[in-house]
Amino acid sequence: MTIEVTIIGGSGYIGGELLRLLLIHPEVTVKSVTSRRLMGTSVTMVHPNLRKFTSLKFQGKPDLDCDVVFTALPHKASFKIVPELLENGLKVIDLSADYRLDAERYAAWYIEHPQPDLLEKAVYGLPELNREKIKNATIVACPGCMATAGILALYPLNDLGEDILIEAKIGSSAAGAKVSESGHHPERCNTVRAYAPVGHRHQAEIEMIIGRKVKFSAIAIDMVRGILATAYIKTGTKIDQKEVWKQYREQYKNEPFIRLIKMKTGLYRYPDPKVLIGSNFCDVGFEIGKEILVAFGALDNMVKGGSGQATQNMNIMFGLEETTGLLYPGLHPA
Ligand SMILES: NC(=O)c1ccc[n+]([C@@H]2O[C@H](COP(=O)([O-])OP(=O)(O)OC[C@H]3O[C@@H](n4cnc5c(N)ncnc54)[C@H](OP(=O)(O)O)[C@@H]3O)[C@@H](O)[C@H]2O)c1
Repeated sequence: MTIEVTIIGGSGYIGGELLRLLLIHPEVTVKSVTSRRLMGTSVTMVHPNLRKFTSLKFQGKPDLDCDVVFTALPHKASFKIVPELLENGLKVIDLSADYRLDAERYAAWYIEHPQPDLLEKAVYGLPELNREKIKNATIVACPGCMATAGILALYPLNDLGEDILIEAKIGSSAAGAKVSESGHHPERCNTVRAYAPVGHRHQAEIEMIIGRKVKFSAIAIDMVRGILATAYIKTGTKIDQKEVWKQYREQYKNEPFIRLIKMKTGLYRYPDPKVLIGSNFCDVGFEIGKEILVAFGALDNMVKGGSGQATQNMNIMFGLEETTGLLYPGLHPA
C-alpha cells in the first residue's frame, strides 16, 4: 500500500518533524508540502536534517490529489482549510487545537466553534484510548503535547478524587518556529519559567478525557524537546502499590508505545524525557507517599506529543500495523 500525503504548514517544527517521519515511512509518499512564506524554496533549507532524504520544494498551494492531509497550522488557521479538504473526500489529521474539544468546552476555553458539525465529527486522536473510533474517522484532532503526557499518566488510575494538580515542564520547541521575545536565546536559556500557572488550555483536554477537574500548571524549561508531566493526587488514605501497578498494567499491557517505568535503583527510576528524544514512546510511572500518589508522563513533544502521534493515527486510519515507521528508541545520551 502507498499512502499519498500532503502536509499543510510544512515549514514549522511540527511540519518538519512530520516530514522526518513520513519520508522514511515504508508505506508513504509525500506529494506536497506547503508554506506561504517559502514557496519555491527547497524543504531542506528549513529542515537541514532532511538533506539527501528529499528534493521537495515548498508549494504555495497543497496538492490535493492524495489520500490524507496533515494540517500543522496555528490555532484558528485549520478552520479555514479543513472544510474544503473534507469536501474533496480527503482524510484530515489536524495538529492544532481547532477540533480537539467538545462544543461546550471549546466555547468556554476559546470561542463559539464556527463549525459545530465538524467538531462533532472529529475524533480525539489519542490511539491508546480511541483506537476504534480513529479507524473510521475522516477527521482526527491530535491531542495537545502536554495533554497527551498528563492524560496517559492519569488515565489508568481508578478512584482519583478531585484533588489533582498536574505540573508540566516543557521544552522550547513546543512554542513553534516563529521567533518571539520569550524564545530569544538570552531569555530562554537557563530558565525555569512559570508561563501558565493557571488557565492553560490543555487543562480543558485533560478534564474532557479523564472526566474530572484538575489543576494544571505549565513551566517552560531549558530543553529544546521534551515534556515531563507530574500529577500530584491527594489520596487521603493509604494506597496499595500492587493495586496501582495492576491498574497501569491492565490499561497499557498491549500498548506498543507506552512503557511503565518504576525502578528501585538507578539514575532513570522514573519517566524522564531525556531518553525519549526523537521517539514515539510515552513513559509513565508513579510513586506513592503518605496520602499522596504522584504519577508521571514523559514524552517528546514533537513526536508522541505531535508528529509521531499523528503518524500513529494515520497508520490506524489506513489499516496499517500501528507501529509502522515509528518503532525506534530515543537517543541516549542526548
Ligand atoms: N511544537 C510542538 O511541540 C507541537 C506539539 C503538538 C501540537 N502542536 C501544534 O501543531 C501546530 C503547528 O505547530 P508548530 O510548532 O509547527 O508551529 P510553527 O513552527 O509556528 O509552524 C506553523 C506552520 O503553519 C504555517 N502557517 C501559519 N499560519 C498559516 C495560515 N494562516 N495558513 C497556512 N499556513 C499557515 C506556517 O507556514 P508559513 O508561515 O511558512 O506559511 C508554518 O509552516 C500548532 O497548532 C501547535 O499548537 C505543536
